[in-house]
Amino acid sequence: MLLQIPEVLTPAELERMQQILARAETEWSDGRATAGPQAATVKNNQQLPWRSASTQALQAILLPALQRHAVFFSAALPKKILPPMFNRYGGDSNTYGNHIDQAVRVLPDGSGRVRSDISCTVFLADPAHYDGGELVIEDSFGPQRVKLPAGHAVVYPGTSVHRVEPVTRGQRVASFFWIESMVRSDEQRRLLFDMDMALMRLRQQHGETPEAVTLTGTYHNLLRLWADT
Ligand code: NI
Repeated sequence: MLLQIPEVLTPAELERMQQILARAETEWSDGRATAGPQAATVKNNQQLPWRSASTQALQAILLPALQRHAVFFSAALPKKILPPMFNRYGGDSNTYGNHIDQAVRVLPDGSGRVRSDISCTVFLADPAHYDGGELVIEDSFGPQRVKLPAGHAVVYPGTSVHRVEPVTRGQRVASFFWIESMVRSDEQRRLLFDMDMALMRLRQQHGETPEAVTLTGTYHNLLRLWADT
């Protein structure tokens, strides 16, 4: 499931993150450091080092924002989230060709692994400030081109071939990370998400009806059947 999630960050959170990013100017380094062998041949961008104070300060704003976001939670049903990383495309380091993300990522502190069921990008730069930089995700309906306002996110299956188009003006800054979901199957997650969103709207329209209670029970019983915690 490819899903755009508006306003993952509040304007205040986004502003704090942009201030931290502006102060991190000298810390950007070659993005190939974290790419697998195939991806490294097509990756040409910059990243903040995983252990830098700036990265940690940015994670400390983004992770709680993700955790409290109901639509993100419902779409991803996260079991583990790899600590978000931050990248930048512009100048001579401005593109990332077609690739598939590594299936399993080791946590930066070596304490475990995360299976990349879901890839997530949170856009951090105003799209008016750069040209190009679309995230292009190949899916069964054809290529999907994604370029979102700052503070918005997109989640898509980790199994997708994707790329970032060359940035020809300005700089595209984003956070990217992977999620291991309690529900491994994209198809099952999609069914649960659609049901959860429909239930939310049913409640808004009709209140807490017996039918809404029954369907909520069905949602949780499906989640119980499919979730691995
Ligand atoms: Ni990727």
